[in-house]
This record gives sequence, C-alpha cells and structure tokens, in this order.
Amino acid sequence: MGTRVVLLPGDCIGPEITREARRVLEALDLGIELDEQPFGAQALRELGEALPEQTLEACRSADAVLKAPIGHPDFDGAAVRPEQGLMRLRAELDVYANLRPAAEGGIDLLIVRELVSGIYFGASGTREDGTVYDTCEYHPREVERIARRAFEIARARTRRLVSVDKANVLETSRMWRRVVDAVAADYADVELEHMLVDNAAMQLVQMPERFDVIVTDNMFGDILSDEAAAMTGGLGLAASASLADDGPGIFEPVHGSAPDIAGQGIANPAAMLRTVSLLLVYGLGKNDAAKRVDGAVAAALASVRTPDVGGAATTAEFGDAVLAAL
Ligand code: NAD
Ligand code: IPM
Ligand code: MN
Repeated sequence: MGTRVVLLPGDCIGPEITREARRVLEALDLGIELDEQPFGAQALRELGEALPEQTLEACRSADAVLKAPIGHPDFDGAAVRPEQGLMRLRAELDVYANLRPAAEGGIDLLIVRELVSGIYFGASGTREDGTVYDTCEYHPREVERIARRAFEIARARTRRLVSVDKANVLETSRMWRRVVDAVAADYADVELEHMLVDNAAMQLVQMPERFDVIVTDNMFGDILSDEAAAMTGGLGLAASASLADDGPGIFEPVHGSAPDIAGQGIANPAAMLRTVSLLLVYGLGKNDAAKRVDGAVAAALASVRTPDVGGAATTAEFGDAVLAAL
C-alpha cells in the first residue's frame, strides 16, 4: 500500500500556502498520494461542519496530515467556530505532543506543548448569574506522557529541559511540577529547571540562547511559541509537528490564517514548507527528503523574501525559488 497524506488547505491564506506545499511534495517525487479534504470555515459554511466525518476518517487512516491554518473573521464570536473543529481533530488523533522548533542566529530551542488537554478542553460554560468560565484540568497521566516525550527529546539534544508553569498560583501547575520531578528520576542525565511562565516570557526575549527544550501546558505553549517565532524571524517561518503515541501526526504551521493579507498572494509559505519537512521526518521517516526541503527553503530565503520578512516577493515567487533550489 502506498503512502497517503491528507492535505487540509484551510482558510484565508491557507490555500495559497498549501499550493506551494503541494508543488514541493510533487517535485520530490516520493510517490506520496495527496488526499485533499474540506476542513475549517469553508467546510463549516458549505457542509455545516468544520470537521466533516469524512475528513476525520480520511485523517485517521492516513500516514500523516498536512494542515494549513483555519479560522475566519466571519465566525468571530459565533457559537460554532472552525477552531472547534481543529481542537476536535487534535483530540481524536490524540496528538498530545506539539513540537514547535525555533532556530535562527544564536537561538535554537524547541517548545514541547501539551496539545489535547488543559484549559482548552476543561469544563466551560455560563452559570445562572451570568458568570462565564473555562476550566484548566489535567490528569497526572497527561502530564507524565508529555514530560516523558520532552525528556526523551532533551536527551537527544543538549540535555537541558525547562518546564514552564504557574505553580505559585495554580493547582494544576503544582501537580505538573510534582509529576515532572517524578519523571526526571528516569532522566538523571538531563538537567531540569522549573520556571514560572511570566519569568519565562521575559527570559525568552532577554536571553533566548539560555533555552534548549521547553515543556509546558497547552495555553502557555500557545503563547510562548508565537513569542519564540517572533524571536526567530517571525510567524511566517515557524513550523510545528503534533504527534501521538500511535497513528498519524498532524503537521501545521504555528501561524494562523492571516485574514489581513488573504487573497493578495503575499503570504510567506516558508512556515508551511518547513512543516512539510517536519512531516517528512516525523510522519514518514524520510529524513533525506526533509533535509533537501530545509536546504531549499534556506537557499530561497537568502535571495527571495516575502514582505513579512523584509522583501517584496510573492508567495509563488518564493515557491519558485524553493523549487529551483530543489
Ligand atoms: P495570524 O497568525 O493569522 O496572524 C498574525 C499576524 O501575522 C498577521 O499580521 C498576519 O498577516 C501575519 N502572518 C501570519 N502568518 C503569516 C504568513 N505565513 N506570511 C505572512 N504573514 C503572516 O493570527 P490572528 O490574526 O490572531 O488569527 C487569524 C485567524 O487564524 C483566527 O481565526 C485564528 O483562530 C486562526 N488561527 C489558526 C491557527 C491554526 O489553524 N493552527 C493558528 C493560529 C490562529
Ligand atoms: C495554534 C492556534 C490554535 C491553538 C487555535 C486556532 C485553536 O492558535 O495552533 O497555535 O490555540 O492551538
Ligand atoms: Mn497559536
């Protein structure tokens, strides 16, 4: 049976950057079948569901999922939103380990973000008196598996791990610390430091080079990864891999659907192309092809840049440069 990758083009700039990803994957000629499926605001409008059942089934049975950003201003404040489809897809595939690398200049760090629990998935609602609530909930088992993943990754890098929490205030964070400390006993060769999230946000700006692997919860990881992207060339360059223990991973850029620049043909496809590289490594084990993509993206960035990274090139021109370098 051949390799099948589900392609989710998403919303706003999503289809624009997906086009370049498709061109690169086809140029690599790896015999990968690309199975495009509806997902996000477009799917919600046309099919009544952000994550149609047929899309979920296609993802479940795929070798990997390549997902462009979803989300549209039309649904801001609506009860049913495309983002709910994304959270459901992540939960259904149980991709609890979201790897968000950021490297540039003297910075080379990796955020390991817990992706399928915490405040994103806890109880929420409205009480009779009008109070609205979202609850941060973690089971120790959920903390243990993300901690283990992070220690394994730290062991393969520079053996330094910073665990970020808010243990001076939150019960979930105090449990998080206890569990991370317990897992640390199995990784005596990895140096562990606990850091409060406000301090981590500050140090990330002031001394980014002191970080290697960071492990943190769903919401802190969301915020810190945009910050880390900003420190290393911007959102237009930041890729991510969301991995389960078994089954297909979801590979997606860190950035959103950028409605402010949609339809102009100027979105930076580099984050999406670096995401293709992560898919090739973590999803398909094709490390050589991934290196070729990374090399071609780096070569293109040296001469052709979209406006977000200081140039005047279009999305397609950047894609052309990557293909030429390949
Ligand atoms: P955003 O990341 O879409 O945009 C933030 C800023 O960065 C904008 O100025 C945008 O133009 C710029 N930017 C982002 N990616 C870029 C790229 N590839 N090239 C050039 N410039 C780029 O964040 P937002 O505006 O807060 O969110 C917009 C929508 O995206 C919302 O609906 C949000 O929910 C959604 N979103 C989706 C994902 C996802 O699908 N994984 C991630 C984040 C946000
Ligand atoms: C991300 C996005 C998503 C998140 C949203 C769109 C649900 O911001 O992938 O970083 O918060 O996880
Ligand atoms: Mn985010």
